[in-house]
Amino acid sequence: MPRVVVPATSANLGPGFDVLGLCFDLSNTFTYSIESDFQCTGFSSEYDMDHNLVIKSYKTIFALLSQDPIPIHLHAQCEIPISRGLGSSSSCIIAGCVIANEVLNHPFTKEEIAKFATTIEGHPDNVIPCLFGGLVASKFNDNHLFTVSYPISTKLHFLVLIPDFELETATAREILKPEISRIDAISNIQNTLLLLEGLRTGNEALIHEGINDTIHVPYRKTLIEDYDILKHIVYKHGGIGFTISGAGPTCLAIFTNEIPIDDINIELVTCAHHWKIMEMFINMNGT
Ligand code: HSE
Repeated sequence: MPRVVVPATSANLGPGFDVLGLCFDLSNTFTYSIESDFQCTGFSSEYDMDHNLVIKSYKTIFALLSQDPIPIHLHAQCEIPISRGLGSSSSCIIAGCVIANEVLNHPFTKEEIAKFATTIEGHPDNVIPCLFGGLVASKFNDNHLFTVSYPISTKLHFLVLIPDFELETATAREILKPEISRIDAISNIQNTLLLLEGLRTGNEALIHEGINDTIHVPYRKTLIEDYDILKHIVYKHGGIGFTISGAGPTCLAIFTNEIPIDDINIELVTCAHHWKIMEMFINMNGT
């Protein structure tokens, strides 16, 4: 059966709100076959046929060509946790778009698929790294998509801390201020530039300073009760950067040394929630 493997992503990376995203080697795998009706298996119950983002995205691609969607049986093997800030929705959107393009015999280029997926998601910083892999900055404006891939130092290790609760992206966006001050805008531009150079070179000071954000993390961390204690634990054990992954509630930490998983796990018992930690490796290929 044809299959599409779609990776997890971590958006924002602190100051790069709605711009930067990083692709990881954790993936959802979707297999499909052309049948006489639509059927989905392997999804959790909230993703019934009407709410299944893979099928919705699949149908969107057919609608763009004014064609009736060809029914498929879709089976998902999901490893990316849902509503945790690791791009599970983007993985479904990319899967739907890519499968439709395959079933239709590739009428669209990868760049066109990237635009459609960004339009469905509403922001590019998960779907673009999910499709292209690696560390990517992107801007989608007036149907023009700009993407820039950046190198990442092999000195760096990435850790995600995933809690036992979900947080909807919509909720995590609602609490943000509609406008930001000039001082915060300047700080985020400065930090984004420092961070990208830090990620390229593995420079600890640049990452430590550059990962700080003033436009979304201060508000969103109020939804993540353990945020400050997690940050303290990570920095105590040699972490050089800490922020929220995407809209949260997962947190992302960066290290230059080997990650002391056991030591961190011991300290996590002091948190209000249960946190699962996983080292993540960069996926340079995307979907
Ligand atoms: N940039 C988006 C946000 C990512 O932070 O809301 C959400 O997946």
